[in-house]
Amino acid sequence: MSRTLTDRSSGAAGRDVVLRADDLRVTIPTPGGQVRAADGVSFVLRQGQTLGVVGETGSGKSVTCRALLGLRPSPRAVLSGSVTHPGLDDRNVLGLSPRQLRHRWGRHVALVPQNPMSALNPVRTIGDQVAEAVAASRALRGAALHRAVLQLLERVGIPAAARRLDDHPHQFSGGMLQRTLIAIALAGDPRVLVADEPTTALDVLVQDQILSLLVDLKRDVGMALVLVTHDLAVVAQMSDRIAVMYAGQFLETARTAQLLEDPRHPYTDALLHALPGAVARDQPLAVIPGSPPQLVDLPSSCRFLPRCARADPGCPGWRTELLTVGAVRDGGAAAAGRDGGEGTAGEHLTRCRRHDDLARLRDPGGGRTQDPTDHTDSGRDIAPQTRSTR
Ligand SMILES: Nc1ncnc2c1ncn2[C@@H]1O[C@H](COP(=O)(O)OP(=O)(O)O)[C@@H](O)[C@H]1O
Ligand code: SF4
Ligand SMILES: [Mg+2]
Repeated sequence: MSRTLTDRSSGAAGRDVVLRADDLRVTIPTPGGQVRAADGVSFVLRQGQTLGVVGETGSGKSVTCRALLGLRPSPRAVLSGSVTHPGLDDRNVLGLSPRQLRHRWGRHVALVPQNPMSALNPVRTIGDQVAEAVAASRALRGAALHRAVLQLLERVGIPAAARRLDDHPHQFSGGMLQRTLIAIALAGDPRVLVADEPTTALDVLVQDQILSLLVDLKRDVGMALVLVTHDLAVVAQMSDRIAVMYAGQFLETARTAQLLEDPRHPYTDALLHALPGAVARDQPLAVIPGSPPQLVDLPSSCRFLPRCARADPGCPGWRTELLTVGAVRDGGAAAAGRDGGEGTAGEHLTRCRRHDDLARLRDPGGGRTQDPTDHTDSGRDIAPQTRSTR
């Protein structure tokens, strides 16, 4: 990926908070039990900032994204905790009526949903669908509406947009569909864009183009971005902060450089080792043994325990509270405050009780030393077999 994509909107720390989640939970009743798809997610997002959320398939990313707009995954799903759009008002989005929600969708927060093909109506033209989004937030009709639609499609880089207005979604490539969804999301000039895997189905070249587009749009309008993906390399390039999601929880959140240089959760560490470039060319990529847990009947202990090579006898009893890295209390860690990771004390958060040991095991040159509790043969925290984290 090219370096030009890098978007670390510096100075975001002092800016207005535009989105805030506190202990967000989404529970979905299913015949197999209660699926806890989001389980205590907290963060704040400031104007112009990018939060990258990375996690394996099924970790709860899409459910969390939609809950940020007050959307539930099924009619019987229960949303709890709070999501607020500060700056607009202090009301909990999770308690708003559909009419109240519609009023802020597009204008304050907009979603670029996963799967562009299913997100668009296959029997309506592209022009119609973009026009509907524009008309929902701006009192435009006739020629003025037509002009606004065209401008929007040109802004997201649809070539010869005027000739494509009457096309149907099946006539668009994957990259153009993704651009169209971004255009629809931008129609109301939102302060926050939540982009759910906007590049997953695209080839690398088009992926680069879409990410560049998001960077440009952010720079032009000062929008904040929640960028969701299963690709750590993408969020590493794009984000001010990264949240690593696993089994419905943010296991670790930190500023991008902090998280990459000093990961304090074995899962983050393992993801970093699985990145192409983390190992020599002739070496296979690392693999995290086992698979993520089912999200029904989850234990209250550490979700990563069954896969963790750093676990010690204290881990099964550990209730997964968020700890602040670097704060001095109870041996070097303190429970995180409700701001979910902003401010000096709560900047780097982890759910691993052994996060200080992880740091100690890393030598000053960045190499690794053998952990006496390491259960792998290699002395590394993940087994060296070939597999990507996708
Ligand atoms: N409507 C639904 N009914 C039942 N389970 C659901 C529903 N939507 C999502 N889930 C479950 O919630 C979990 C998280 O899903 P999702 O947020 O889509 O994961 P991700 O986006 O990280 O791949 C998964 O176990 C998924 O099966
Ligand atoms: S708390 Fe224990 S089991 Fe969980 S990630 Fe940390 S070391 Fe591993
Ligand atoms: Mg998803």
